[in-house]
Amino acid sequence: MSASFDRIARPYRTLEYLTLGHTLERTRLCFLPHLLPARHALILGDGDGRFIAEMLNENSSLTTTAIDISAEMLRLLRQRCSRYSDRLRTEQANAVTWSPAAGEFYDLVVTHFFLDCLNQGEVDRLVTRLAPHLTPGARWLVSDFRIPDGALRWPARALVRALYLAFRILTGLETTRLPDHAAALEAAGLRRTEQRLLLGGILTTELWQRDDNRS
Ligand SMILES: C[S@@+](CC[C@H](N)C(=O)[O-])C[C@H]1O[C@@H](n2cnc3c(N)ncnc32)[C@H](O)[C@@H]1O
Repeated sequence: MSASFDRIARPYRTLEYLTLGHTLERTRLCFLPHLLPARHALILGDGDGRFIAEMLNENSSLTTTAIDISAEMLRLLRQRCSRYSDRLRTEQANAVTWSPAAGEFYDLVVTHFFLDCLNQGEVDRLVTRLAPHLTPGARWLVSDFRIPDGALRWPARALVRALYLAFRILTGLETTRLPDHAAALEAAGLRRTEQRLLLGGILTTELWQRDDNRS
């Protein structure tokens, strides 16, 4: 059974602010200024479209393709981005099985708090399938929860466990542990060029780049 995020689409923003304040928002926007050179972006699981709206507003040369499994999330996303509809394509699909059309290339992929909805095998397959559709030097912006070393290790574990439990109850999400996105991206020939840690290292936002100088 796949998860259904339709039910939480409308209250999603409020629930986020009530639980974590504006920390996730700050995390998503950390590298926004770095994305100005992007021209064709693929955004997976953007939810209600807050990040895409910011990106389209900041970068008038950008066209975007947004994939989400939830019809309701996509409806909110299109509503929020209505001013930019000529530069936005949306498709309701499971990103794990979706493929770009032949000859379709992206210089930016964005996955904010999305890969942690998937298990390791799904993340591996998704990255492997998208890698041939990245332009040389393409970048991948990823934000996710992480378990830091040190004193916050156990509180972080408890928080992540509680969030997975909440998503299981609210959406039917079956994933129970954070996948290792770094392993998948490295295996596909990308390398991390930037990283910011927030909330004592419980949140990470990272820029990865296709490494075209690999021997
Ligand atoms: C936890 S929310 C994250 C939303 C937003 N990116 C953020 O930063 O808060 C996960 C989003 O991914 C979507 N999603 C979950 N699994 C998916 C899948 N397999 N394929 C496409 N979208 C999916 C959900 O509908 C939701 O919009």
